[in-house]
Amino acid sequence: MQKINCLESDMLKTSRIFVVGATGAQGIPVVRGLVSDGRYSVLALTRDAVSARARALAELGNVEFLEGTFADETILRQGMRACDGVFLNIDGFNTGEKTETYWAIRAYEIALEEGVKFFVYGNLDYTLKKAGYRSMFRTGHYDGKGRIGEWILNQNVGNGGRMGAALFTTGPYMEMAFSAQTPMTPRIEDGVLTWRVPLGQGAVVHVALEDCAYYVRWLFDHPERANGMDLEVAIDHIRYADLAAAFTRVTGYPARYVDTDLDAYFAPLAAIAGLPAGYNADPADKSTMSFRDNFTGFWNQWKHDIITRDYSLLDEIHPGRIRSAEEWIRREEDRAKESGGETLWERVQPETLSKRPILKLSEDHRCGTL
Ligand SMILES: NC(=O)c1ccc[n+]([C@@H]2O[C@H](COP(=O)([O-])OP(=O)(O)OC[C@H]3O[C@@H](n4cnc5c(N)ncnc54)[C@H](OP(=O)(O)O)[C@@H]3O)[C@@H](O)[C@H]2O)c1
Repeated sequence: MQKINCLESDMLKTSRIFVVGATGAQGIPVVRGLVSDGRYSVLALTRDAVSARARALAELGNVEFLEGTFADETILRQGMRACDGVFLNIDGFNTGEKTETYWAIRAYEIALEEGVKFFVYGNLDYTLKKAGYRSMFRTGHYDGKGRIGEWILNQNVGNGGRMGAALFTTGPYMEMAFSAQTPMTPRIEDGVLTWRVPLGQGAVVHVALEDCAYYVRWLFDHPERANGMDLEVAIDHIRYADLAAAFTRVTGYPARYVDTDLDAYFAPLAAIAGLPAGYNADPADKSTMSFRDNFTGFWNQWKHDIITRDYSLLDEIHPGRIRSAEEWIRREEDRAKESGGETLWERVQPETLSKRPILKLSEDHRCGTL
């Protein structure tokens, strides 16, 4: 029996990973985690192999590029045929929920057909289901991934010996609370760093991007345990009053959280509130969620504490993980000191904030081909 298990786990071992979303906020640390010690090489899908982010990835070494789009079978097939592992993070803010659903399913099917050994799906919580199918929680960019996450795990019951599969379920990056053009962009008001968001006393399961590097690497390194797993990660359930207090404790600068109702939150966003959340989704398609509807569900899930995490599992898998907002802030500040880079307080100044968006989508002004 023991022998068979060893054999099975060897069959799922990979060395060359096709990464979809490699140049994104999430993809960059994921690729770094894979290639940093030479254990894996990466074939990165991008629509533009000479973008600044692609060039930065190339400097890591062991990274090659395939130019094209995930919305193209030929490209997906080419990438997957050349690799034995896949990390797939389809950009739902490009596609919208409906198109993402189709291409995520096709990507899984093509990976199987092309002989991929291990498939990691960049997932988000299936909020609508977790909230008991109540529409106030419907969040297209979460549900669009979460449904397919469940579908993949179901397929994997029969297919897991031929191709292993795991979900990597994340949440809003902690960096987003200190960056421009995100749902939780702060402002400095009368010298006080201020988050005005419709969170009530709820908490956001923020994720540290640097820990994504470790977790995804762990999934590929441990296919025997990871096969069939939904690895749901987070730093912690972070309440924004605590985030503000932690910021002040570490940096000495004043910060506060102001609970805001949905109308007040969306008022400054009136110009985009009615647009599709996915920039290439068809506004005339009745299935397309508007920015406002999508982010109403998004905030409701945090406000009503719908999403859970198993922190003891994360402690076991990643003993050195970041465990609190304060620890994350402290690390950023220490890194700034060591490198002479910007501190968080410098980063959130109005003149700096808009220059360094964490999301490539913001850098590209929500433009680009499907
Ligand atoms: N923002 C968050 O806190 C967060 C947290 C967890 C999960 N997510 C999910 O992650 C996804 C976005 O990834 P991200 O957060 O890393 O955002 P990002 O920084 O905006 O990056 C988007 C990535 O998607 C790639 N991409 C977009 N359209 C593509 C296409 N047609 N073909 C091939 N690649 C394409 C981009 O590559 P090129 O531009 O180089 O082609 C880039 O690598 C979304 O589905 C979002 O819901 C976001």
